[in-house]
Amino acid sequence: MITKTVIPAAGFGTRMLPAAKAVPKELLPILDRPTIQYVVEEAAAAGITDVLLITNPDKRAIEDHFARNPALEQRLRAANKSHLLASINTLLEKVTVRSLHQHEQKGLGHAVLQAEQHVGDQPFLCQLGDTIFSSPLSTQDSALSTLLPAQQLTTAYNDLKTPIIALEKVPPEKVDRYGIIGGQEISPGLFKLDALIEKPARDAAPSQYAICARYLLTPEIFDCLESTPPGKNGEIQLTDALNLLLQRTAIHGVVVQAKGTTSATPPIG
Ligand code: UTP
Repeated sequence: MITKTVIPAAGFGTRMLPAAKAVPKELLPILDRPTIQYVVEEAAAAGITDVLLITNPDKRAIEDHFARNPALEQRLRAANKSHLLASINTLLEKVTVRSLHQHEQKGLGHAVLQAEQHVGDQPFLCQLGDTIFSSPLSTQDSALSTLLPAQQLTTAYNDLKTPIIALEKVPPEKVDRYGIIGGQEISPGLFKLDALIEKPARDAAPSQYAICARYLLTPEIFDCLESTPPGKNGEIQLTDALNLLLQRTAIHGVVVQAKGTTSATPPIG
């Protein structure tokens, strides 16, 4: 049973400047709530009860969003407007949200490494805090409702008991923008991986399946992260650590049903 998620949200978000100068990109709103609230809602819907946010001291507003605000709640109660905070307060009844600071932005892999003690010896979910997933289908018909990646990954883990990476198919002319996997499709939408290549040249990509912001990781990833040297941009890359992990253990990939949107990059597809 997977109960913990780690949500890296400590990056500078330079691709979203100036929008993300004072407001963290993970807090930029979509409809009535900030991006990262959808990420935590996705985890809660998959049965996660323990959320660890990786933030930095300049992004305290993320932590504030997941803390109760008694003065505001009192004011809303008095005005009969408590429903305005219902979505976040209901979420906070389902999950415990803690945060840790990544003091230097040394990359996504380094952000995940901060979670080592908290995670302990159990498998865990990892969700990038700036990416949400939504159904490409009409949700009018509940029979057609789409599973979000957190649910897909935790369900797949129960069968596979290996690390699992969420995948989205991208057009061939866009493979050079993403981390691309190679491997064998052992059943529809399920791959056993043999390669993970960050932004391959178009003619060298082993597939059209891109790593897409959701991972089901086992604690061995921390050993791998510790021995991963800084890579592209001098950052410790999670993809590099996953390549080390692939030498030790099987890793699977699951094609997600939902469609991802990242605040910093155009949607896949
Ligand atoms: P990105 O790859 O988008 O990096 O991070 P970034 O630094 O935030 O943005 P750019 O490249 O400057 O535009 C993907 C996720 O990993 C987190 C980010 O907050 C985002 O949710 N991250 C990235 C960290 O937590 N720490 C880091 O050092 C880097």
